[in-house]
Amino acid sequence: MLEFVARFTDEDEMNAARKPENRGAAGRPEQTGSGTTPGRADATPYGTLPPASSPATRKPVSLPRLTEMRARGEKIAMLTAYDATFAAVADAAGVDCILVGDSLGMVCQGLSSTVAVTLEAMRYHVECVTRGVRRVQGTAWIIGDLPFGSYHESREQALRSAIVLMQAGAHMVKLEGGGWTTEIVSFLVERGIPVCAHLGLTPQTVHALGGYRVQGRSDEAAAVLRAQARELQDAGASLLVLEMVPARLSAEVTAALARCATIGIGAGRDTAGQVLVLHDMLGMNLGKMARFVRDFMADSSSVYGAIATYVAAVKDGSFPVDAEHAW
Ligand code: KIV
Repeated sequence: MLEFVARFTDEDEMNAARKPENRGAAGRPEQTGSGTTPGRADATPYGTLPPASSPATRKPVSLPRLTEMRARGEKIAMLTAYDATFAAVADAAGVDCILVGDSLGMVCQGLSSTVAVTLEAMRYHVECVTRGVRRVQGTAWIIGDLPFGSYHESREQALRSAIVLMQAGAHMVKLEGGGWTTEIVSFLVERGIPVCAHLGLTPQTVHALGGYRVQGRSDEAAAVLRAQARELQDAGASLLVLEMVPARLSAEVTAALARCATIGIGAGRDTAGQVLVLHDMLGMNLGKMARFVRDFMADSSSVYGAIATYVAAVKDGSFPVDAEHAW
């Protein structure tokens, strides 16, 4: 990573390297000149973000653009990120949506579940990610996860919490569950806050679910999930994360929702997009990796390359393959 910035000692060189025609085989910028230009930006001793003035080379992702991608059949590549540097690299590598997930409780804070993650922690990480994205391309759509307890009391509480994340830089908020969340979704959407819903395995309710298990397996559970998905779409949710549900069910839900794009994680290949937890797809897991995770770092020499490969694999449909969900 340090090498990534150390190579660029002149803004013009860096901007030239950003042009698609100057990119290397792995999509990573290649060196286009030599030496340090005196008085210009020097490599930083820590941190890897380029100068704030760097121009974007991709069109920013917006809500209409996500809708248009879904309509065109272009898969949406979503990835989690929790800090400025990883967010900047993910943005530069072409990720469409960065989810500042409350999985940061497990990934960054060492918690055993997401239940104890606070709104203040989410605000802090959304702010960090927003800075990182703005410093590079500024194109990714940023989703802030509403943590457990920040929207459960009332729709007014949900609105106050959503405002905290939107003012920290999020373009959209995500919340878990169906049924009782429907009125919250419409309350937020009516007030101009885009919403991503989340059904299937909802980690904030891990204790009620009895563990991190596949959801929607029985006919009854599948029928409830189908109905909740439709209600969430009708309430105005623009995206719907489907986590650990049978591939056939998520394909049915995807086909049934014309105005809400599904994003799968362990939900098969027929969703409108895919999401993975960053550290998992970089192979940074000392425990047993979930079956639906692919280690993109295994065949990459850089984090940038691993994320660019993930984006390409989501876009061309080669991730996931059936064996990676198998339920
Ligand atoms: O918190 C998170 O990162 C998530 C994803 C796993 C979808 O909700």
